Amino acid sequence: MTEMSPVQTNNLEAFWMPFSANRQFKQAPRMFVGAKDMHYTTADGRQVLDGTAGLWCVNAGHCRPKITEAIQKQAAELDYAPAFQMGHPKAFELASKLVSIAPQGLDHVFYTNSGSESVDTALKIALAYHRVRGEGARFRLIGRERGYHGVNFGGISVGGIVGNRKMFGTLLTGVDHMRHTHDPERNPYPQGETENGAELAEDLLRIATLHDPSTIAAVIVEPVAGSTGVLPPPKGYLKRLREICDQHGILLIFDEVITGYGRLGTAFASDYFDVVPDIMVTAKGLTNGVIPMGAVFVKDTIYEAFMQGPEHVIEFAHGYTYSGNPIASAAALATIETYKEEGLFERAKALTPAWTDAIHSLKGARHVIDIRTIGLIGAIELEPIPGQPTKRAFSAFVKAYEKGLLIRTTGDIIALSPPLIIEERQIAEIVDTLKPILESLD
Ligand SMILES: Cc1ncc(COP(=O)(O)O)c(C=O)c1O
Repeated sequence: MTEMSPVQTNNLEAFWMPFSANRQFKQAPRMFVGAKDMHYTTADGRQVLDGTAGLWCVNAGHCRPKITEAIQKQAAELDYAPAFQMGHPKAFELASKLVSIAPQGLDHVFYTNSGSESVDTALKIALAYHRVRGEGARFRLIGRERGYHGVNFGGISVGGIVGNRKMFGTLLTGVDHMRHTHDPERNPYPQGETENGAELAEDLLRIATLHDPSTIAAVIVEPVAGSTGVLPPPKGYLKRLREICDQHGILLIFDEVITGYGRLGTAFASDYFDVVPDIMVTAKGLTNGVIPMGAVFVKDTIYEAFMQGPEHVIEFAHGYTYSGNPIASAAALATIETYKEEGLFERAKALTPAWTDAIHSLKGARHVIDIRTIGLIGAIELEPIPGQPTKRAFSAFVKAYEKGLLIRTTGDIIALSPPLIIEERQIAEIVDTLKPILESLD
């Protein structure tokens, strides 16, 4: 029998791919078989510059030795320990490290395996927190239009993407949504926070008044909406949400699955905007994307509210088989060390001006109708082909891949979020690759 490459061996039909156009992909598969630092290697041996840190997660770059070695060592030493009623040292060590880099007051960590699980965990903590304090009538959850909070039922209920919601029945009850803050007419081509729109935070007050604030458990927002096209918040907007929450006993949840771990040049977006939430949802960059893991940070007051009653009783009926998994914990510890040793959050901050200038230099390129940047994130919005939304940006994605650049598209928006180890010449390479592609699009 002749030896077959893994690509040939596989029957591509068996794998039902997530968030993918399966039939189209399987006609012309795009396969990565290797990665190192800023590059992927394709099945046909080409190098592809990673303009998206995988899926917004590989913040330290690919196949970093410290992380690889930590995983290898841990797998050989303690592969798994039960997550319930048992422990292992690395999960505790990691939690201590995480709270030491988290915004002040977020002193406890609950582990999950993904952003979606972190979101649903945060929503459950919020509901249960009010209940253990005797405020069980606070059962409503408030999200926002254009919010993405993963794909589990809680997350799609508070999320604001119609396509992710419409197929799945009635979702959670008791959920309402604030208006989104995207207003390109008033805030064209923003660099960082937008100038206009802080007043949209008053929408929380409107909804709270409609339902009565005493029925509202929590509000959840992404500090910068990522998946719906990189929408930086208006100046003062998040601070005002914080004030309204404080006035009405509502918990503020930040979904930092994308913005966490250095993406904006600070450890968390909470540091960038100087607003501390009550609960902070993270995943992705926590382990550099290498092993699935999420972490939900909560304020001391929330944790302490649960630590009541008889000590033999489980305080919070929630958790996953792999919460704080030893190998994931080892990967996260090595990831945080890598961020620290290499000063990657500071590096992201130092690179932000060059990044901003480079991405905004595409203003005026064919089809471009808006460009938005904040930290090491960028979005280039294209005018859709009439009657065929998403097609133009997807075609840019395929062409970029063929030219050796990985970008991501959402609707007709190109989203960019490179590993924080990117060099200035590679930022220039992204722009130089994209320019002719934009010109060539139908
Ligand atoms: C803000 C936000 N929340 C939650 C998620 C879901 O994370 P996961 O895909 O790990 O479940 C994502 C994923 O992109 C995200 O961007």
